[in-house]
Amino acid sequence: MKPYCRDTWVEVDLDAIRANVQTFRQHLPATTGIMAVVKADGYGHGSVQVAKEALLAGADTLAVAFLDEAIVLRQAGIEAPILVLGYTPVDSVEVASHRRVELTAYSEEWVFQAEQRLQDAACPPVGIHIKTDTGMGRLGVRTADELLSVVEALERSSKLAWTGIFTHFACADEADTTHVRRQHDTFQSFLQVLRDAGKTLPKVHCCNTAAAIAFPEWGYDTIRLGIGLYGLYPSSYMKEQAAVRLHPALSLKTRIAHVKVAAEPFTVSYGATYTAQPGERIATLPIGYADGYSRLLSNRGAVLVKGSRAPIVGRVCMDQIMVRIEQGSAQVDDEVVLYGKQGNEEISLDEVAALIGTINYEVPCMLNHRIPRVYVRQGKEIAVVHLLSEKNVPV
Ligand SMILES: Cc1ncc(COP(=O)(O)O)c(C=O)c1O
Repeated sequence: MKPYCRDTWVEVDLDAIRANVQTFRQHLPATTGIMAVVKADGYGHGSVQVAKEALLAGADTLAVAFLDEAIVLRQAGIEAPILVLGYTPVDSVEVASHRRVELTAYSEEWVFQAEQRLQDAACPPVGIHIKTDTGMGRLGVRTADELLSVVEALERSSKLAWTGIFTHFACADEADTTHVRRQHDTFQSFLQVLRDAGKTLPKVHCCNTAAAIAFPEWGYDTIRLGIGLYGLYPSSYMKEQAAVRLHPALSLKTRIAHVKVAAEPFTVSYGATYTAQPGERIATLPIGYADGYSRLLSNRGAVLVKGSRAPIVGRVCMDQIMVRIEQGSAQVDDEVVLYGKQGNEEISLDEVAALIGTINYEVPCMLNHRIPRVYVRQGKEIAVVHLLSEKNVPV
C-alpha cells in the first residue's frame, strides 16, 4: 500500500543527482572536493536522500544552514563531515560537538563564549570554519585584524579547532565578473595575511555552483555545490553558457480528481475570475497554495496533461486548482505533471520562477511537508518519505 492517500507527489530522480555530482567532479581539478549543500531539506528535494546519493556519487562532505538540519542528517545515520554555514547560538555548541558537526565563526567574541560553554563539557573539539565577508555583506570578518583575532582565539582554545576558511560570492552567476573577481582578490589577500602570519591554512573554499562552473580553478580544497546538485542553473546567463550539462532532479505530479464539460458558461474558483465556455473541459487537481504551489500562478501557469499544456483557469485555491484540458483528452485519475517533463513537453522550474517573479531556487523550496517525496532510481520507485505519514521509508 502507498504511504500516502492524496495522489499528489514530488518525484526525485536520484540518477540525476548522481549525474550532476559526476559532472562537477569532471569539471573540477582532481584535488578539489565537493561539499553537497543540502540545506532547506535539500532545496525541497529531501536532505537525507540527496545527501546519501551525493556522497555515493563522489561528494565528500555536506553543508546545511543551521544545526537542526545537521542533526536530521546524523539521525539518519549519515557519518560524513557536515558544516553549518550560518550562525549558531553559543548555547548549541555542545550539541555540535556531540554530533561531530563543524560550525562557522566570524567573531572573537563568539569564539570566546563558545569556548566558555565547552570548558567543563566532556566532548570532542568542535571544528570551526572562519567566514570572511569579501563582498556579500552578510556574515563574516571584514578586515585582516578581525580575521587574525578569530584565528588566534581559536588557536588558544582547547575546545574549538580551526578547520576551515571560506567566503561566499554575491554575483558569481552574472556575465559581468567585476564583483566576483574583486571578491576573489579580497579572499586571496585574506589567505596571504594568514600565510604572512605563519599560519598553516586549513580547508579553503569559496565557490558556490555558479563560481564552480565559471571558475573551476578557484576550487581550492572544496566547492559548495547547491543548486547545481539538483540540476538547476544559478541564472539564465549560466544556463545559456552551457559550460556544464545538468539534469533537473525534481518533478511535481498529481492526478485528475474531477472533469466537467461546460454545457453552459460557468465561473471557476474564488473571485469568479474565469468563465468556462460551452464545450470547454475543466479538470480539478488536488494541489494548492498550502502545498507550496504559488497562488501567483492563478490564470497564468500551466500543467501537462497527456503530453500537452493545460492552462490554469481561475485562482489557485488552498488545496485545489482547475485547468482547461483539450477535448476528449483526459479523465479522472490520469497523471498530471505540474513541474517536469511529460512526453515532449516540459514545465521547468525556471519557467515557473519567471511566472511568479522569483528565482528557480525558491520554487522547490516552497513545496512543503504535505507532499510526499518519491525517490526513483533507473525509473523505479525505491523509497517514499512522507512527513504526514508514519510510514516513512528511508533510502
Ligand atoms: C554560504 C553558501 N555556500 C554555498 C551555497 C550554495 O549556493 P548555490 O546553491 O548557488 O550553489 C549557499 C546557498 O545559498 C550558501 O549560502
